[in-house]
Amino acid sequence: MTDTATLPERTTVGIVGAGPAGLLLARLLHRAGVDCVVLESRDRAYVEQRQRAGILEQGTVDALRSCGAADRLDRESLVHDGVELRWDGRAHRIDFPALTGGRRVWVYAQTEVVKDLIALQLADGAPLAFEAEVSRVSGADTDRPVVHYRHLGRERTLACDYVVGCDGFHGVVRRAIPQQELRSYERVYPYSWLGVLADVAPSSEELVYAHSPRGFALLSMRSPTVSRLYLQVPNGEDPADWPDGRIWDELDARLALDGGWSLKRGPITSKAVLPMRSHVTEPMRFGRILLAGDAAHIVPPTGAKGLNLAAADVVVLARAFAALRASGSTDLLDAYSDTCLRRVWRAEHFSWFMTTTLHTDPEQSAFRTRLQLSQLDRIASSRHAAAELAENYAGLDIG
Ligand code: APR
Ligand code: PHB
Repeated sequence: MTDTATLPERTTVGIVGAGPAGLLLARLLHRAGVDCVVLESRDRAYVEQRQRAGILEQGTVDALRSCGAADRLDRESLVHDGVELRWDGRAHRIDFPALTGGRRVWVYAQTEVVKDLIALQLADGAPLAFEAEVSRVSGADTDRPVVHYRHLGRERTLACDYVVGCDGFHGVVRRAIPQQELRSYERVYPYSWLGVLADVAPSSEELVYAHSPRGFALLSMRSPTVSRLYLQVPNGEDPADWPDGRIWDELDARLALDGGWSLKRGPITSKAVLPMRSHVTEPMRFGRILLAGDAAHIVPPTGAKGLNLAAADVVVLARAFAALRASGSTDLLDAYSDTCLRRVWRAEHFSWFMTTTLHTDPEQSAFRTRLQLSQLDRIASSRHAAAELAENYAGLDIG
């Protein structure tokens, strides 16, 4: 943990949050010679073990490679050329390269991305403080915003040229922006995901997304020996109500195929219920305060977009700060919010589409269910419909 004495009292870019957005931004800025400080409220161990997503798009992999943070990813990740959709006892594979002109995705847990970025930043001596809880940002409407935080029992301040809120949906930086300056768009879904990790080899080479009358199921993975699986459950569900046997039985039922299919079982090592929401805050900038990642937008995980959106935001932001340092131009910074929001809304739509097509809302009508089945049949029978899903899933070049 960085000692408070070594933390500067002023910097060019103050970054709140050491999730993927804050850490990748800090790494990109460090490599571009733009000084920055990262303040993270939790300890390193917590941040590194927080189970989140696991699918990286080409753009995210490119960004990690560009700042020397992809060596282990390139050694250990699984490269996938498709996903499988299942419904009504049927299966249909979406072939990413064939439908997108060569795109694919990488399976590499967010926990590993975070570990790799933290290790590199600490090895380079970049200012990254854990257990540094930011309480507020003052001067949001000035050209010298100040981050107020507590670290090692002491109240501290960090004077910045810019503050970037990478502090997630519940962070404090967004709250430093006058609320009348912001517009929020939100949808909360009437179901959640029960996510589990299991010490068992995945029963499919690629991810399987299943629509079923009993609810959605997803078979994903972390490695050739660790499975990551999800079940749609009602909001407020208690993981304690889901013993291992019940989880495996339900996954079997929802992933079933007419021709038969078996799901390998093993010890479940973690369980958590994840609520689902779509949310966008506009604009993503107010003066010297900028928002990136979950601090600005949330997607339901069905489209595997959350981490990739965060990475895409900070790639745009790092380029903007590098241009400011090199030429004094604020053109890219001034365009940051509009540049990101076009991509964000595309990902919001895709994530909503995947969620509402594949999940069975307990209150939905039989008519709604038939529409879902018709959409899935359309994807299986039309190259155009399949390509639309493949292009969005594997990542679009927007901005
Ligand atoms: N002070 C300091 N740090 C804070 C504060 C605060 N007041 N509030 C929140 N944080 C930290 C959190 O502890 C967390 O480590 O900000 C970080 C935000 O990280 P994420 O929530 O992971 O958000 P982001 O970096 O945008 O990454 C988005 O993470 O949540 C997943 O599904 C999401 O995959 C997506 C990705
Ligand atoms: C995961 O592996 O955690 C994962 C994969 C695909 C998704 C969501 C989560 O859509």
